[in-house]
Amino acid sequence: MNDALPAREIGRSLERIDGRAKVTGAATYAYEHEVESPLYLFPAQATIARGRIISIDTADAEAIAGVHAVLTHLDAPELASTEDAELAVLQSGDIGFRGQFIAAVLAESPEIARQAAGAVKTEYEPWQHDADLRPDRGDLHPPGNDYDADTSEGDVAAALAAADVSIDQTYTTPAEHNNPMEPHATIAVWQGEDLTLYDSTQSVHGVRKQLATVFGIDPERVRVICPHVGGGFGSKGLPHAHVVLAALAAKFSFGRPVKFALTRQQMFALAGYRTPTIQRVRLGADSSGRLGVITHDSIELTSRIKEFPEGTTKPTAIMYKAPNRRATERLADLDVAVPSWMRAPGECPGMFGPEVAMDELAEACGLDPVELRVRNEPDEGPVSGKPFVNRHLVNCFREGARRFGWDQRDPRPRSRREGDWLIGTGMAAATYPALRTPGSIARITVTAEGTYQVRIGSADLGTGAWTVLSQIAADALGCSLAEVSVEIGDTSLPTASVAGGSTGTVSWGSAIIAAADALQEKYGDSPQPGDEVEAEMPMNPADDEYERHSFGAQFAEVAVNADTGEIRARRLLGVFSAGRIINVRTARSQLIGGMTMGLGMALHEESVLDQRFGHFVNHDLAGYHVPSNADVLDVDAVWLDEHDEYAGPLGARGIGEIGITGVAAAIANAAYHATGIRVRDLPLTADKFL
Ligand code: MOS
Repeated sequence: MNDALPAREIGRSLERIDGRAKVTGAATYAYEHEVESPLYLFPAQATIARGRIISIDTADAEAIAGVHAVLTHLDAPELASTEDAELAVLQSGDIGFRGQFIAAVLAESPEIARQAAGAVKTEYEPWQHDADLRPDRGDLHPPGNDYDADTSEGDVAAALAAADVSIDQTYTTPAEHNNPMEPHATIAVWQGEDLTLYDSTQSVHGVRKQLATVFGIDPERVRVICPHVGGGFGSKGLPHAHVVLAALAAKFSFGRPVKFALTRQQMFALAGYRTPTIQRVRLGADSSGRLGVITHDSIELTSRIKEFPEGTTKPTAIMYKAPNRRATERLADLDVAVPSWMRAPGECPGMFGPEVAMDELAEACGLDPVELRVRNEPDEGPVSGKPFVNRHLVNCFREGARRFGWDQRDPRPRSRREGDWLIGTGMAAATYPALRTPGSIARITVTAEGTYQVRIGSADLGTGAWTVLSQIAADALGCSLAEVSVEIGDTSLPTASVAGGSTGTVSWGSAIIAAADALQEKYGDSPQPGDEVEAEMPMNPADDEYERHSFGAQFAEVAVNADTGEIRARRLLGVFSAGRIINVRTARSQLIGGMTMGLGMALHEESVLDQRFGHFVNHDLAGYHVPSNADVLDVDAVWLDEHDEYAGPLGARGIGEIGITGVAAAIANAAYHATGIRVRDLPLTADKFL
């Protein structure tokens, strides 16, 4: 444990320092960087889900005026590493999923490139593909490699048989696609052996490392620049195939920069997505609602060419006490696009099944759903046995219930009606682990004016990271905000971990604090112009000794039209425990943003996989509905006043992801309360209430 960093700038409500540039169009996004005489890339994509290319004819495409080159697997250079099959673009004629890149046109304009891509003629040998996610498949397997999701304790069968009250239900969540406002985009420029990328990414250093591996060059020869990002939600956390394709194609452009932005439709096959989940949850309790047993078995898909396990059962290991328990995660390898990170991978879908099941158990026990949860609070990690530190879930429930007016609630379903509308309220828990990623380094330089230049190669997805790092730097250096200038988003700056896993602020902020301490240690209280230090984020040895998580309580009020089934989320309230809050304004924005995305998950978002073709049919914002202003009525987020003394001097945990967790369950529980209809399959569309 360390002394807390005193808060002068920390804790304020500040506008984003990049906010004005972003809303006035002055902020430069990846595709907008001025480069000289660029060529434009448009890809051709596979129209079968599995098989191989027999022939590919680019003559017509090449004949179009303004086309510079058409690259296919026949002439693309060999990559140094094809270990990551998602990134091994144009390395063979094999097709692993529908939508896979099969050619890249380089042309003088984006329109010409697009036209030419449509003129590429391909003959395939299609192989039998499989895009059928069913729980009775014989080939479901646990995640491989480094990730073990299974837990097992006690005697589940005996405990279920002995339970006074039990629930055994299956809950499903559909595939969902990250839809940041700014599509994925890359500009690639080779100068000899040196590669420069302007890429929309959550991790410039991550892109550098991965691309250096794929091309077999020294990471120092790759520079990645990304000062501004228009959202990512995880889909820009890892480089996807388009980055490699742009860099590969730029080898054929005689030094001209290659610009490539995915279309919204292409993003649905090429930028990751959240797997659908089929979750069977069993709960057994005594008549007072004390759980004797919890099981959570999740089935998901992954791509045959690259495994991505969602981690759906992770939160079950820490939520509630029960002596007998089991959690499993099983994957089906399908001929589909590669799933990846989407806001709170694991916790987000994984808090749907169990938190609706808890609502069902509360009713079966005749207990208030808040009270049921309180009765099952664990005193230590239910699986790990490690002590919890700063577990304030019950405080969140209590504060949320008070603010929401929960005690006014008549627990009987379908007991409240306003005209044609059935009104209901529901709640669920939220959680996300407090993680830190090692390795981030901050450099502080004293400028000629005596101010501080803080450099760290981190990212701001539009969440306020840049602003909060400036606040942290000011307090760490004991100066005003005006006296610090923070530079981010470039691999020429010291290495920083990915803006992901809700780790950014804590990891990078801790590196900045360490650098400020180093400056003081080396140069005393009055460092001189030119003085400079670098320091790495210290790891906290206590991290492994405790269960450290953020928690929250989500409350929802919905109205369901009794005749049409139309459902509206009239009121959402989240109360969170997330350690110290660095910037009141950006934190609230992060949390209500997460909750809004949870609202989308609850009511709208569903990527429909057509098994016959192996692709997602609703691949644009007309068919894939995300919440618009008219859907978002009253959303509020508050938090407990807290300093996490186990989180280093910053005292903060992450807030990027907890906001989305639990929302869909709270809304589904409210919809049940409104209608008496228990919907266990997301999204909660109107037809399910008729
Ligand atoms: Mo997030 S899904 O950890 O970028």
